Amino acid sequence: MKEKEGNKKGKQLSSVSRREFIKGLGAGALGTAALSGGIIALKEAEAHPAEESLEEGIKIPLRLKINGIRYKVEVEPRYTLVDVIRDQLQLTGTKKACDRGECGACTVLLDGKPVYSCMTLAITAAGRDIMTIEGLASGEELHPIQQAFLENDAFQCGFCTSGQIMAVNGLLKQNLNPSREEARNALAGNICRCGTYTRILEATLDASQRLRKGGGNRG
Ligand code: FES
Ligand code: FES
Repeated sequence: MKEKEGNKKGKQLSSVSRREFIKGLGAGALGTAALSGGIIALKEAEAHPAEESLEEGIKIPLRLKINGIRYKVEVEPRYTLVDVIRDQLQLTGTKKACDRGECGACTVLLDGKPVYSCMTLAITAAGRDIMTIEGLASGEELHPIQQAFLENDAFQCGFCTSGQIMAVNGLLKQNLNPSREEARNALAGNICRCGTYTRILEATLDASQRLRKGGGNRG
C-alpha cells in the first residue's frame, strides 16, 4: 500500500461553536451522532497525544487510511473528518452542505458503518478504515450501487448523491436483502433537496438485488 503525504496547508477553521463543542466533549470522550437507523460515528477516542492539546493553531501529525491508502496529515484536534478529506486530501466526492449533522451529504463509512463526517473529529478516525465515494468504483467500472443509481435515475442535481450512495453501501454491508421499509429507515438520515426519494429507494433495492446476484458487497 502506498503512503501519501497529505497537503499540509490545512484549512483554518474558525467556528467558535465548533471549538466550544469540542471543548464541551472533553479530552477523552467523544459523543455519538445518530445516522440513519441508529448507526453512528463517535465513540470513546483512542488515547492520543492530540487530545491533550485542544488549543487552536496547534497541529499534530495524524495517519488516516482512506480507501485502502495511508495518508499522513497534520491537523488541529478540532478539525472534522470532512474538512481533512476534502481540503487536505482533495477527495472532494464527499460533500459538505449543512456542516451540522442534518443532511447526510458528508456520509462516509468508518469501519464499514455510515457516519456524518462533518460530525466526526478527524483524530477519532486514526487507525480506522475510512471509505469515501472515491473508493467504490473499480477503475472505469462502477460499483453495482453506483450503477443502480444511474439506471434508476436516482439523482437530479447530484449534490446529495455520494452521501446517499455511501449510506446505501453501509446498509447493504449489514443487510444485503433489506425490505423496502428497512431501506427507507436506513436512508432517513440523508436528505435530498431535489426530492428524488422514490428513485433512491428503487435504486437501493435494485443494488441489493445486483449485489446478491454478484455474490456480495465488495465495496
Ligand atoms: S454536511 Fe454533514 S450532515 Fe450535512
Ligand atoms: S439529487 Fe439534488 S439534492 Fe439530491
